[in-house]
Order: sequence, then structure tokens, then C-alpha cells
Amino acid sequence: MRVVLGVSGGIAAYKAASLLRRFTESGHDVTVVPTEAALRFVGAPTWAALSGKPVASDVWTAVDRVPHVRIGQDADLVVVAPATADLLAKAATGQADDLLTATLLTARCPVVFAPAMHTEMWLHPATQANVATLKARGAHVVEPASGRLTGADTGPGRLPEPEELYAACLAAVDASAPLGSDGAAVRGGDLHGIRVVVSAGGTREALDPVRFLGNRSSGKQGVALAERAAARGAQVTLVACNLAVPVRDDLGIRVVPAESALDLQEAVTTVAGDADVVVMCAAVADFRPKHYVASKIKKTHAADGSDQAAPTIELVRNPDILAGLVARRGSAAHPVIVGFAAETGDESGSVLDLARAKLARKGCDLLVANEVGATKTFGQDTNTVHLLFRDGRPGVTVGPASKAAVADAVWDGIRDLIPASH
Ligand code: CTP
Repeated sequence: MRVVLGVSGGIAAYKAASLLRRFTESGHDVTVVPTEAALRFVGAPTWAALSGKPVASDVWTAVDRVPHVRIGQDADLVVVAPATADLLAKAATGQADDLLTATLLTARCPVVFAPAMHTEMWLHPATQANVATLKARGAHVVEPASGRLTGADTGPGRLPEPEELYAACLAAVDASAPLGSDGAAVRGGDLHGIRVVVSAGGTREALDPVRFLGNRSSGKQGVALAERAAARGAQVTLVACNLAVPVRDDLGIRVVPAESALDLQEAVTTVAGDADVVVMCAAVADFRPKHYVASKIKKTHAADGSDQAAPTIELVRNPDILAGLVARRGSAAHPVIVGFAAETGDESGSVLDLARAKLARKGCDLLVANEVGATKTFGQDTNTVHLLFRDGRPGVTVGPASKAAVADAVWDGIRDLIPASH
């Protein structure tokens, strides 16, 4: 999509350079429009080199192309990061005394402001009123993060990290995207026409009608993968194992529930038949109780009513669904198969060592490794992952970032693995 990155004059302008790279690396066409003040923080050569385009702040450069009108009219997204108090005031009152403010008046696409300033300026009623005006007109305003500001002070006013801004921009575009006949959001979707299956959540292995062996997976990352794929135009089936989070119902995602590993195997094997990509994000129990007890297991079962000894639960192995998919595919290049590796690291190796060994063992095309523990990853809103590719291309580390931003990075990696004929 055609993105306009407006940069106003705050110290956080340097972070906009990373946001710019995030867009260009994902194949978007970015025009940077800095204000005069922004150029005091980061110069025009940086913006021109990173965007591959000339950069202007005033309305008098390349007048024959009428840039003060064209840039805004042609954009699919305008994002201003950082947006200073002054820029927000100008935008709220419709001033147009430079290229960025003129662009904001001609844009008909989603507009995202990412304010960054000192806490007092952010909390001032004038700034808050300007933000309210912009929101009332349909603009998206990303809440500033709290933390250390430029001086010794701390408080709300920091520009969020580039990955967060990138995700907020895509969410703003999705929110305004029309829905296609299949209910999926239509935007210049780079996954349009791709059929994907994502498994998410954690399996439950029943002991009796009320008890099960389970795990801590909430399904957040898998749901984010399904939602981001659908928002990027893919046709998505989500095999949902006991999710603790809702799935957006406006993206046309088909949800197939599964409880145990055996249910999951059956569901995935059925829907993977005509898929281009299968992503096994679900946390699958490796073992299940050998015997299911049809009525609730009681602690007093002995004929004389006395407590019986604590029962021993015998376990049997569950099938490895991911390895089964790889075996079934054989030497074909289709579908692309992606695994997740939840690792804690141990005395035999680091998270990355164990993940590389797992990639080799499972034979999938891409393994997404993340570090887990009682307080890491499971149920959290952010995640750090390593993408490891079987074909030897260099790995990629993503995060800490929102699960939506991680999902986008995973789909960027998968997109490059899909054979060109699809
Ligand atoms: N997986 C699967 N079937 C299983 C177990 C895991 O399909 N019975 C998939 C998961 O969905 C994930 C990948 O395999 O994509 C790795 O899961 P993980 O639990 O990390 O690996 P395991 O194979 O169970 O290895 P180990 O428990 O020894 O670390």
C-alpha cells in the first residue's frame, strides 16, 4: 500500500526511521513528509535513503506535480509519528502551512497519529481537546507509552516502539477496509487467494467427565496469526483448542473446535487437504491418559467406604500431528508447513539450540521458537520469537512485540516460502 509517513519535530523522530524500515521491508511504498522542525532531529538524507524517494517539507518543491494535494489524495494510509503537541493543534484546526499539514487535509484514507511529548504537554486540556477533535473526525490516535522521557522525568508521552506502531497502522487500515463477499477484509492483501489453516490454543486430555490434563496456552498468538492472515486477504480456517480469547467475527475466519490431541489431529488432517499453508501453533499434549473413566473418579471407592490409595494415571503417547503432516506431504513443496516450538531451555541446550534440533527433527519449512515459562509468553500480550527456516536462509528475531506484530512477521516469512504459482 502507499503509505505517507509524517514526522514532526520531536526527539522521537529517530524511532520513525525504524517504522519506515518496517513498512518498506514488508513491501509498502512509503513517502516521508517531515516538518522543518523534524529535519533538525533527523535529516532529509536519512529519510530519502531509507524510503528511496525525494523528501520535501514545503509545498514549493516539485510544484508541477502538485504535491500538497496529490500525496494525501493518493495515500492508502497516513501516519504521523511522532506527532507533537503543535502538529496535533495544527491538524485539529485545519491549518495547512507546510506539506504535512496540507497532506492531512487532502487525505481520504485512514490517518494515524502517534503523539510523543512531555507528560505536561500531553495531559494539557488543549492537547486533549485537540486529540478528541481528531478522534471525532475518525482519526486513530495511538496512546503514548509511559516511561522515561528525554529529561529525568517519567510519565505518559513516549512514542511506542516501531513494531507497536506498525501493528496499530495495519489495524487502522483493516478497521476501514471493506468486507469482501467471503466476509474477509479486502485491502491490497498480500495473502489474497492463499488458503491457510492455523491451529491455536492448548489441547485437553480427559481423565473423566470433569477432569483433564491441559497446558497454559491461551491461544492468543494463534488467534493473532489467524486474524492477521485474514486481514491480509487469506482464506483462514482456525482449528481452535479451548481458546481463552475471542476470535474477531468480522474477518470471515472459519472456526473448527477441537478439544484433545486426537480431535485436533482429525480436524487438521481434514481441513489441511486443500490448504496452501498449515501453521501448527497449538500446544499439543504429547501424552493422554490410557483409560478414560466414564464416571467421575471418586477418592472413596473401596467397598468398606475407606479412602483408596491415590490412583496412578497411566499415559500413552499422542500422535505427532506436525510430523504427520510433513510425512504425508512427502517430497511435494505444497503445503508450506510451519511449527512452533515452546522451549524453556535446559542443561542440554539453549532455547535456540533446542529449536534448531526440533526443526531438523520435525522437517517443517519454518519453525517459530519462543521462550516459555510460567510468566513468559503464555497469556501475555507480547512475545519474542525466532524464525528458523529449513532451507538455510538466515533466521529472524522478532520482538518483544505485540502478538499481532509477531503474527505479521511470521506471515512475512511464510509469504516468501509459498511457491509462485499460488
Ligand atoms: N506438535 C504436534 N503434535 C504433538 C506435539 C507437538 O503437532 N503431539 C506440534 C506443535 O503444534 C508445535 C510443534 O509440534 O508446532 C512443537 O511442539 P512442542 O510441544 O514444542 O514440541 P514437541 O514435539 O512436543 O517436543 P518436546 O515436547 O520434546 O519439546
